[in-house]
Amino acid sequence: MKQVVISGTGLYTPSQSISNDELVVAFNAFVSDYNESNKAQIAAGTVEALAESNSAFIEKASGIKSRYVIDKAGILDPKRMAPSIAERSNDEPSVQCDMAVAAAKEALAQAGKTVADVDMVIVACSNLQRGYPAMAVEVQTALGIDGFAYDMNVACSSATFGIQSAVNAIQAGSARCVLMVNPEICTGHLNFRDRDSHFIFGDACTAVILEDIEQASSDSQFKILDTKLQTVFSNNIRNNAGFLNRCDESGLAKPDKLFVQNGRKVFKEVCPMVAAQISAQLDKLAIPTENLTRMWLHQANLSMNKLISKRVLGREASIEESPVILDRYANTSSAGSIIAFHLYKDDIKAGQLGVVCSFGAGYSIGSVVLEKC
Ligand code: COA
Repeated sequence: MKQVVISGTGLYTPSQSISNDELVVAFNAFVSDYNESNKAQIAAGTVEALAESNSAFIEKASGIKSRYVIDKAGILDPKRMAPSIAERSNDEPSVQCDMAVAAAKEALAQAGKTVADVDMVIVACSNLQRGYPAMAVEVQTALGIDGFAYDMNVACSSATFGIQSAVNAIQAGSARCVLMVNPEICTGHLNFRDRDSHFIFGDACTAVILEDIEQASSDSQFKILDTKLQTVFSNNIRNNAGFLNRCDESGLAKPDKLFVQNGRKVFKEVCPMVAAQISAQLDKLAIPTENLTRMWLHQANLSMNKLISKRVLGREASIEESPVILDRYANTSSAGSIIAFHLYKDDIKAGQLGVVCSFGAGYSIGSVVLEKC
């Protein structure tokens, strides 16, 4: 069986960012407009007044302090509260394609590869900006890669599921070197008028190069010792946007066509499942938890990550053992655990072990155990 390695990673971070304070000012302006416009109905008890958001709550409940976004002005406009992203002609590169190309170039450079070495492209993310042609085929062509490409969506777990697909393809001989990219424009599906979730997401794109160890030449290689995937159906994180929406006009523009979650239930149900999956995987590989140097966890909520790492390690994890990027990136869906890996892998020494783990809608959980070469 071929030994597959991750030989390069890349990250595209948008240039604009929004602090909690800025987001809350915009949200509260919207609330005050709404309550003023509905003053009579609120007084009559037929409409419920909206409550204000606040920065201290956001940081305490989630650990998020700010987020990078594709378009700040549209999100912070209380009359709009959505990013302004102009439609592009079919002859121009798509927004997700541009993000993917930027992250891919860094990953290729780190892996010491050119596009001629790559023969498979996976675009794996929560939201694809169109039905077809596949974003991955556009990315493949923009980079000048021969071979084949396809899209996949497993919500926040898309990247770890994409890694397993790449490993399978390399081991089966259908690809030699895979580019797996995660262009996440999470602000495009976030309801900025919803107090419970308006602070959750940010935008970013990650890229990973995977190949047979025999042909890898990068200074920074991680052997993939094992991948484990799990899915269990749940409606607690759901987005009903889709191509059938126009077939029932009564549902158009309703809040369920954006991200909706029951955050408390997600927290309670997903944390034990994730910890159990990682622990079972380490057991199977006969890796004692004290031999685990790092956990690059999905970045949705700081308390969730603290709970998961504590369950796995049997004690609190240090910031070095379970690095945090959600404070400045917020939840970037499938990109989150890969951003953590990309930014916090260079100090890992040969022979040291770590696990990249993502979790989210589906429910879906993916964990990838790595050993530094
Ligand atoms: N500002 C101020 N107060 C707020 C608020 C806001 N923006 N949003 C909610 N609140 C209030 C609620 O009304 C509630 O008030 P009450 O106690 O008087 O009823 C209180 O704060 C607690 O709300 P709750 O929703 O229970 O907060 P929480 O501690 O569960 O934190 C999340 C909310 C979403 C941050 C948290 O549940 C979470 O992160 N869950 C997992 C999310 C996740 O990983 N999702 C995966 C997506 S891929």
